[in-house]
Amino acid sequence: MRPARTVRGSVRLPGDKSISHRYAMLAGIAEGQSRLENYSTGADCASSLGCMRSLGVEWERKDGVIEVKGRGLALAAPVVALDCGNSGSTMRMLSGIVAGQKFTSEMVGDESLSRRPMERVIKPLSEMGARIASQQGKPPLQITGGALKAIEYKMPVASAQVKSCLLFAGLLAEGETRIEEPMRTRDHGEVALRAFGVKLDSKSVGQGSEVRIRGGQRLRGIEASIPGDLSSAAFFLCAAALFPGSALTIPNLLMNPTRARLLDILMQMGLRVSVTQIEESHGEMVGTLQVEGGGLKGTTIAGADSAALIDEIPVLAAVAPYTQQGIEVRDAKELRVKESDRIASVATNLRLMGAQVEEREDGLRIPGGQTLHGAELDSFGDHRIAMAFAVAGLRARGDTLIRGAESAAISYPGFFEALEVVTER
Ligand code: S3P
Repeated sequence: MRPARTVRGSVRLPGDKSISHRYAMLAGIAEGQSRLENYSTGADCASSLGCMRSLGVEWERKDGVIEVKGRGLALAAPVVALDCGNSGSTMRMLSGIVAGQKFTSEMVGDESLSRRPMERVIKPLSEMGARIASQQGKPPLQITGGALKAIEYKMPVASAQVKSCLLFAGLLAEGETRIEEPMRTRDHGEVALRAFGVKLDSKSVGQGSEVRIRGGQRLRGIEASIPGDLSSAAFFLCAAALFPGSALTIPNLLMNPTRARLLDILMQMGLRVSVTQIEESHGEMVGTLQVEGGGLKGTTIAGADSAALIDEIPVLAAVAPYTQQGIEVRDAKELRVKESDRIASVATNLRLMGAQVEEREDGLRIPGGQTLHGAELDSFGDHRIAMAFAVAGLRARGDTLIRGAESAAISYPGFFEALEVVTER
């Protein structure tokens, strides 16, 4: 990565990862065919499709569109382990579906996924009646499903993956399942279920929410075009924020309010943002985003914001040294159990670039006004770390090399090429 002078142009992003996973799973258990346009090109979403195929769901990719033949709520017993690759979303959300099936499935993942906590889905799914064996709460998981009973469950950790997992299990259970989350997280599970024809009730409760779903409802296939991924957009938006005079357009971008906190934060920091051509697609808001770089002020990310920005914190932290006042991140302990320990990954790479960083158990404090130099960095096998430091490298003195940069393909193959197209030197 070479230093840049500015960032200008237009970039169209692959379909949102969170929505793609959910559509793939729900299309599989729906009745009739679904057509999914602009499905995420990332390896993670391919893992979800691969698992659905192992569960007897037929699908094919025709001219970039995924056509899925839904099987209805009953899937086929897999003859191989369900390979979730690097994808925590696949393992956690799909576990809710296989827990409601009358067979045993094994779910496996790569080395990084095999270190990630699954207790958060094992406990409630076991309460619903599934039998789950794990390696002390970590993958591989062996799930023997069957007749589930509805539960009332207060989630101890704010996690949209767990919320979707339990909604999917609730759909296959007898009775009404009630889930409470302590902090509001992305609502794509709720929105997608409604798009496939499921009725559910949701309401805010304090800083969190409560969702109720009745079991046994049937889903109908949908034809949908998936909006561009807002968390992938974050890398381009932060790149633009680095340079006064930059100007970027991102058409067809997801604008779901539970994901768009990034735009508020970047505006507070000095990015000029406008959104036009707002439309709704299957309950998800989509728009064209135009941004212009200005000064770059600092900020604090804490409390509900830390949950809302969980995937964007790595890139915000990576550009923090270039802000005027720096960035402080608190209440973000979850970052330690993502694809890598993202607090440690960010701190290590920033220090290698010569930055001063204070690493804390639940976050970071990164002073502003620093000058960084290019360095040899590591992605730690984590797609968001690879992409975050490609952006940090744009304002460093000298060249930056990122080892394991190919991990960007987990969510965004073609990221480096796309960044190159909008970078002026
Ligand atoms: C996701 C939720 C988040 C996020 C992940 C995708 C989702 O994880 O980090 O990339 O699609 O629900 P948690 O819900 O576990 O925080």
